[in-house]
Amino acid sequence: MTICIETERLILRPFSEKDVEDHIAMMQDENTASFLTPDGKPRAYGEEWRAAAMLIGHWSIRGFGFFSVVEKETGDWVGRVGPWHPGGWPGLECGWSIVSGRWGKGYAPEAAIASVKWTFDQFPDLARIISVIDPDNKNSQAVARKIGEEKTDEIFDFWGHKLEVWAANRDAWLTAYGS
Ligand SMILES: CC(C)(COP(=O)(O)OP(=O)(O)OC[C@H]1O[C@@H](n2cnc3c(N)ncnc32)[C@H](O)[C@@H]1OP(=O)(O)O)[C@@H](O)C(=O)NCCC(=O)NCCS
Repeated sequence: MTICIETERLILRPFSEKDVEDHIAMMQDENTASFLTPDGKPRAYGEEWRAAAMLIGHWSIRGFGFFSVVEKETGDWVGRVGPWHPGGWPGLECGWSIVSGRWGKGYAPEAAIASVKWTFDQFPDLARIISVIDPDNKNSQAVARKIGEEKTDEIFDFWGHKLEVWAANRDAWLTAYGS
């Protein structure tokens, strides 16, 4: 079955091998890397190649994963948004990253709402979806608020950073955003 989610301005499809170079280019932008790498700086090409392979491997292992976000108007690859749950993670997360040239258009929340809907639909027993966010990452916190997540008092220690866990509880979220 081919997964393809359409929103007003975006197409979401599983991250795949054809997206690797676009993803590396996004991650080598210091604006995007600032909260996504251990030291907040862009990583070398080879490290990002392996990180992209992990996103594809996540789909193989879990049967779900990040979506590539494609802008309908141009056909451009503009980021990755969607569910993932790597081993050792504190829950099933909806994550988001958008290429910096497209920030401020509301693409991350538009794609994230569609992703959360898709994920709750796929997993009827899933009680909540989380997002793990650095306390200094104000842009990401804005997205979490826009998609109806609230900050919990849970902290997740990753790469030596104390990250805050935001969450959307299933029943309340589906009531607010529709099923
Ligand atoms: C967080 C991120 C995905 C938001 O994507 P987006 O599509 O721009 O989301 P929005 O348009 O809703 O903007 C979110 C906030 O970013 C800020 N913002 C918007 N345009 C911006 C710009 N051009 N430059 C800097 N910040 C901007 C605003 O604070 C905005 O909140 P507001 O709408 O309440 O003012 C994007 O900034 C990003 O990819 N950041 C780097 C990766 C990252 O941190 N991912 C999350 C890890 S937890």
